[in-house]
Amino acid sequence: MLGGMKVATLHLDPIRNRGPVDPRIFGGFLEHMGRAVYEGVYQPDSIHADEDGFRTDVIGALARLKMPVVRYPGGNYVSSHDWKDGIGPKTARKVRPDFAWKSVETNQFGVDEFMAWCKKLGTTPMMAVNLGTKGAHEAAELLEYTNLPRGFYWSDQRPSDEPYGVKMWCMGNEMDGPWQAGHVPAREYAQRAQQAAKIMKGLDPTIETVACGSSGRGMSTYLAWDREVLEYGWDDFDFISAHRYSANHRNDTAWFLAEGTEIERIITDYRSLIGYVRGARRSNRNVYLSFDEWNVWYKNMEMDGGWKPAPHLIEEVYNLEDALVVAQYLNAFIRNADLVKCACIAQIVNIIAPLLTRGDEMLKQTIYYAFEDIAAVTAGDALEAVLDCETYDADDRRGVSLVDVAATWDGRALGLSLVNRSLTDSVSVRVPVGAFPPFAFVDSRILAGDDPKVANSFEAPETLVSREFEVELGEDALVVNLPPLAHVTLRATTSP
Ligand code: AHR
Repeated sequence: MLGGMKVATLHLDPIRNRGPVDPRIFGGFLEHMGRAVYEGVYQPDSIHADEDGFRTDVIGALARLKMPVVRYPGGNYVSSHDWKDGIGPKTARKVRPDFAWKSVETNQFGVDEFMAWCKKLGTTPMMAVNLGTKGAHEAAELLEYTNLPRGFYWSDQRPSDEPYGVKMWCMGNEMDGPWQAGHVPAREYAQRAQQAAKIMKGLDPTIETVACGSSGRGMSTYLAWDREVLEYGWDDFDFISAHRYSANHRNDTAWFLAEGTEIERIITDYRSLIGYVRGARRSNRNVYLSFDEWNVWYKNMEMDGGWKPAPHLIEEVYNLEDALVVAQYLNAFIRNADLVKCACIAQIVNIIAPLLTRGDEMLKQTIYYAFEDIAAVTAGDALEAVLDCETYDADDRRGVSLVDVAATWDGRALGLSLVNRSLTDSVSVRVPVGAFPPFAFVDSRILAGDDPKVANSFEAPETLVSREFEVELGEDALVVNLPPLAHVTLRATTSP
């Protein structure tokens, strides 16, 4: 299809910003599900395994994504598991049935292995506690194990003298969902979570707690659940969670690429709700949004493990259009930096993930590049990006800007992430730079292609990778010529 060239102007000013981007928006999520833990991060018989059995190829690839936080151990898995099964000598650990994914859990990887793995990756742990089949007592025992100094029953069982110092704690997982082990109405969950948070904060006042918000905008209790939870536990929760998995069931790329408007809408919903509860409570505290499960997921819905260890579950293959949606998630989090202070891509390896393993091989999927490129240029404050750009309609998604953008400024570097949603048209985006000190250097990368369905495979791993890109740097403006179906990132600096 022959396309045209559109023009757009992006207005930026360092003084118009939403404050610092919390690096935790580049978080990840590792669940005991399918081959995420076993054969993903932990595989002692792999040629890539280190002395702890961790896959160094996976650690190396994840390190490039600069994830400051990784959420663990679930997901639905957390709501019926017992963390105590995964500690102590490995030979004595119990093999247990996992209710959530109908799998066999060998418990060869548990809390201590996760902490050691986080250290090697250079990330920090975000632990979820079981508020489905367990409660405040067991959650507090886990905190005693991970965070308290020696001298208590559980902290004395820990292999290391030094506490692990886990800062972020999820009060269960998707407790609004009828599929969740121990699902209860909002009021009952709020009481459970508030009691757990209160005791845990009493033991370690430095921690931050994340209450379960709605597991999706499609839930019949969307926002009503969240309001009840926040109203009840406002003083003991630091975050409320949001989850979303994007889908292109209708196979309409233009419609799917408007997904950023839906992501923005969810964030706006939570902005309003949190503002309402804060106002109604006459509170000066802030509660933030933890978007701790997000990604594209709809093609592979295999969730029955057949009571086997490490079954192949939801090993989604990602294409170009998926990568352009992933970029829009991160763009939305950056734009809303004052509210979204944590977000975790779900997940990190094998399960709906940027990385896939097959034996000793590892594959970087298209979404890996979108994530890596944005993480590399984002720093400092989130700028208010005023974009003068043409719009399009795709069915019920109307007035959608052709370009989706996020911008940051750290006093020395301007970081931009731009998605051209058009399937046919290039868009030349002019960015006047008069409000910034003169830029001397621009580094830019692009992920783009003609076919929205193009994906990498073990046979052709570099079918779609990001590459260096040329951006015009004039005296008055940067000019970014976006081809159709493209994600471009850039970093403009005053000195190298
Ligand atoms: O990420 C896969 C699953 O999706 C998680 O276990 C659950 O929280 C969500 O429904």
